[in-house]
This record gives sequence, structure tokens and C-alpha cells, in this order.
Amino acid sequence: MTKIKRLKWGVTIAAAQTEGAYDIDGRGASIWDTFTEKSYKIKDGSNAKIATDFYHKFKEDIDLAVDIGLQIFRFSISWSRILPEGIGEINPQGIKFYNQVIDYCIQVGIEPWITAYHWDLPQKLQDKGGWTNREIVNWYAVYVAILRDHFADRVTHWILINEGIVCIGGGYFLGVHAPGKRGIRNFISSTHHLLLAQAKGFTVLKEKSGLQVGTAVSCTKIEPYGNTIRDRVAANKIDALMNRLFIEPHLGLGYPDGDLPFLKRISKYYKEGDLEALKTDFDFIGIQTYTREVVKAAWYIPYLGAIQIKSQNRNVTPSVMGWETYPEGAQYFLERFAKYDSNKPLWLSECGMALAADEDDQERINYYQKIIKITETVSHKGINLKGVLLWTLVDNFEWAEGYIPKFGIVRFDRKTLQRQIKKSGLWFKKYLSEIK
Ligand code: BGC
Repeated sequence: MTKIKRLKWGVTIAAAQTEGAYDIDGRGASIWDTFTEKSYKIKDGSNAKIATDFYHKFKEDIDLAVDIGLQIFRFSISWSRILPEGIGEINPQGIKFYNQVIDYCIQVGIEPWITAYHWDLPQKLQDKGGWTNREIVNWYAVYVAILRDHFADRVTHWILINEGIVCIGGGYFLGVHAPGKRGIRNFISSTHHLLLAQAKGFTVLKEKSGLQVGTAVSCTKIEPYGNTIRDRVAANKIDALMNRLFIEPHLGLGYPDGDLPFLKRISKYYKEGDLEALKTDFDFIGIQTYTREVVKAAWYIPYLGAIQIKSQNRNVTPSVMGWETYPEGAQYFLERFAKYDSNKPLWLSECGMALAADEDDQERINYYQKIIKITETVSHKGINLKGVLLWTLVDNFEWAEGYIPKFGIVRFDRKTLQRQIKKSGLWFKKYLSEIK
């Protein structure tokens, strides 16, 4: 039997969902500040101006993570807190804030990890086209170099871009996330630029030796509705879009345009050497998975030829997110990614379950018990899984869903901003102390 190495357990949070302090200490506006001004775009009409006030309460949150026994604290940097205009002048107070977060993590014995980009583009860059503008490859590289120069002396693990497909799919194709753009042209150009930026960001970070630099890929198991060729083709298309597009070009496999022909249009945005430049030998890959989708062929849907069968119309109980909670996807994707390269270190860099305020937190315990079982199964199979980061610590601003879904193992009161460890957090604390 393969000897199981002890996994590391940690937590992930993101700036736009937690920090608040949107106009404090020199921070510039981000696309999420602008997007949430149209309150009808957000299910409960809320915004993230205060969010969980991590900006002022970071010590309390880091203490909670430590108290629960977590070993890794992954947080994202707000680009517009560092560079209010997106490029140009650095905001020293932004640097100071993240220095404090990093130093406090180290002081209390939890490892800080940085996500360089978790969807909150500076509005000033969006005014220039955002991800649709190829210049963003350079803007991002400059930003990442600043992060490297200020923080890489103390932070070893870096995730360059969180979930390209959700960022670009939601923000530049469907328009349900900031900056609310739609359409195939926006999607295609942004996809190519985001991947190029990520590849360049990798090179920039690796200029400093000793860093572990990876990406975080959104993974959704896609299944055909019926056992027909048409439904299987439809499922392959959606799978290429959701699960392959934002990793295979980096692995040197090119764009998955065989299964998803509309991607051939990306060539319009190629410059000489681009395909080569996309190749990136990440030090690790982060898999992030929550749900599963079932799709059916639909000739009338442009580009995709497929429609989603909503979870309400399937034999599953949808979560408050409207999606099926599907921990089994973790096993499926860990095994699948190990097939790309069995040596590559893999992390489950996000997984979690959404509950409504009045739902029993025991459900989350059951969910994480399944995740733990999966980590044991895949480790026995010899898969190079390093650890798991929970989504998330404190309930927070869930993008277009506002504050309705609760993903945290810590509850928080929006009026008093008080935190309280939930049953699932206490359960984790016990579990982590037992495996020590
Ligand atoms: C994102 C998080 C988000 C979570 C739950 C992930 O896709 O990285 O920002 O809150 O899913 O929807």
C-alpha cells in the first residue's frame, strides 16, 4: 500500500469578498465596486463596501484559522489597493496592509499563501478594455513584479489567477459578474489575454528562486443528459469550455478547439510565439470544485449547441446556490489531472458547500467527511495530492448571490461584524487535532 503523506489543511479567502474598506487608505475602485452599484445585479441588492471588514479584522480571522488548527491561510491581493490606477503609482498603504497580514500569519504560525488575482480588476484598467485589451498582459506582469518585490521574501506559495473560466465566463461572456460584459468576442479575446498574462506572471515570479507558483482551475464535472451521441458531443463541448480551456494551453496542449470549434476564432488574437509563450510548467495545480452539471444537445444555442439541465429539474436537491453540491467531483478531477502529469503536485485549493442561513450546518460536516474520504482514497492510489484549502473561513460576499449563501465554517453577523465558529468549524478543529 502506498504510504499516505500527511496532507496540509488550510483555508481560502478573497479580497473582494471579505476586505471591505473599499475607499480607505488610498484604494482605487475595482470592477466589483462599479458592478455592485447596479444593485439589481446582486441577488440581495448588497455590495462589498464593508463585506466582512477583513481589512480591520484580519487578526481576528487569522486567529480563528489558527484556533481551528488550519495550517495555510490563502488570501488574495486587491490589485487596486496596491495600484489604485491599475498601473503607475504604488499605494504604500496597500503594501503596508498586506505586509501586516503576512507578518501576522507568520507570527501566529500559519503559512500565508497569495492569490495575485481573484477577479477584482482595477476599474481604471477596465476603462481601457480590461481583459479584452492585450496590454493587460504587461499590466498584470508589472503588478505581479510589485507583489514579488514586496512579499515574496516571506510568501513561498503563489496562485497567479483564480478560476479563469469563472472570471472570464461570468464577466465577459454571460455578463453576470463584473464587469458585466457579454458576447463571444469579449470572451475569446479575454481568454487569450488572461492565459498569456498568467504565463507571463509565472515567469516574473520565478525570477525569484525558491517560490512555488501555481494556478487555480475551476472544475465542474459535466455529464450528458441522455446516452446519445448528440448529448455526449454536447457534454464534451461544455467540458472543454469549463474544464480544459484554462489549463490545456498552459500544458502545451493548445486550445481544445477540436471539441469546441468556436475557439478557433482565438487565432484572430494570436501573435507570433503566443502558443509557445502560453506553456507554463507550474510548480503545482490547484483544483477547485463544487458542483456537477448535466447537459443536453440543443442546436439552437449558438456556439455551444448545448443547454444545461438545471438541478431543480434533476433528481437532486439544489443548494442555495441553485447547484448540486457534489464533493465526488474532487476525486474525479484529482484522478483526471493526475493523468496529465502524475508527478505534478496537486492541491484541492478550494472546495466547500453553500447553505442557507436556516439550514443545518451538519450538512457541511457530512460534505467535508466525504472530502476527507476522497483525499484518503486518492492518496492510496498514489495521486500527488498535497493538501486541501476550504472555501471558506467566514461567511462572506458571494458575488452576484450577495450574502445569501453561507460557505463559511465561521458565521458572521453583518450588523455587528461579530464572528462565531460554527458546528462545522468546531468539528474541523477536533478532526485536525486528532490527525496531528
Ligand atoms: C470562487 C470563490 C467563490 C466560490 C463559491 C469559487 O469559484 O473562487 O470566490 O466564492 O467559488 O462560489
